[in-house]
Amino acid sequence: MTEKNFILKNLDTTNLEKGSFTWKSPSNIALIKYWGKSEPQIPKNTSISFTLNNCYTTTILEFSKKENLSKEFSIKVFFEGKTKDGFKPKIVKFFERIEKYVPFITKYDFVIKTENSFPHSSGIASSASGMSALALCLMSIEKELNSDITDEYFNKKSSFLARLGSGSAARSIEGELVVWGNHKKIPESSDLYGTKFPYDVHDNFKNYQDTILLVDKGEKQVSSTIGHNLMIDHPFAKKRFKQADNNISKLSEILQNGNLSAFVNLVESEALTLHAMMMTSNPYFILMKPNTLKIIEKIWKYRGDNKSDICFTLDAGANVHVLFPEREKEKINTFITNELIAFCQNNQYICDNVGSGARQL
Ligand code: DP6
Repeated sequence: MTEKNFILKNLDTTNLEKGSFTWKSPSNIALIKYWGKSEPQIPKNTSISFTLNNCYTTTILEFSKKENLSKEFSIKVFFEGKTKDGFKPKIVKFFERIEKYVPFITKYDFVIKTENSFPHSSGIASSASGMSALALCLMSIEKELNSDITDEYFNKKSSFLARLGSGSAARSIEGELVVWGNHKKIPESSDLYGTKFPYDVHDNFKNYQDTILLVDKGEKQVSSTIGHNLMIDHPFAKKRFKQADNNISKLSEILQNGNLSAFVNLVESEALTLHAMMMTSNPYFILMKPNTLKIIEKIWKYRGDNKSDICFTLDAGANVHVLFPEREKEKINTFITNELIAFCQNNQYICDNVGSGARQL
């Protein structure tokens, strides 16, 4: 499918006066990272992520026909029950970007009521779950206006729209492992939307565990827009994009053959490379905190001492995602409680595992 498949000319809205849709949409954690993009939200390299089960956004979108015919967007936002005007500029920008694809959005007054399952300002980015939930609600309106659209089109266009809100949101629609970005070894993969990893995944990766250690709950030091822009003219950009491309091929093999030690090596290398890109850009950033490093050292020691397949990955921040196979759950949970929680802010952490995608409520 191309961009043209998602452009909507005129949908008759006469029979749809008002309504409400609710979607619960997950966050995701990238194994091969998206870092660097070009307009309009086209990734410089393919990325792949685990969909999370317990970290999600629930969004209710209420809509009613506007009384006037103004072209301005009419949006009210509530976050966890309270008006949240601070979210509006990002949503207005999102609406401007997607108007061409869902032109009916100028015809309604919208009330967006949203909440996250994870603590606010936990350092967990809510843009993936938030933007995907909103995109799904808008697609439910499109479906109401045009019942002919297929589930496949619904999901692809939801991801396509979500991507225009936040790149990683394209990977939060459906599937446990989601690929975003065109890659020669992944059939059907696209720069425009996320697709489910198309091959059978080895049992070693079934119900993979992800415990998120909240090392630093402050606001993000570097916004993702600034972060991605750091890859423009970055001295190592070309090599990095090529490396990510190769890493997708490697991870695809690993996910099929179940080689856990290769998984551990690749996933940790990706996390450290992401941070290395930030340390070697100009301006430069160190997003890890001393406790991030302490946790990493502890994980490495535990892995050596216990012949474990525990590993870590990082987002563009100080929090640590501790990844491990389900069969090690009990022992690793004990290790986390006894040795890692002390490095978290207010001892806060979130136990999560791989989930299968968004759900309409
Ligand atoms: C480090 O999706 O937040 O988490 O497209 O500007 O909204 P925008 O960026 P965003 O970037 C996520 C970067 C990352 C890696 C990843 O999730 O792949």
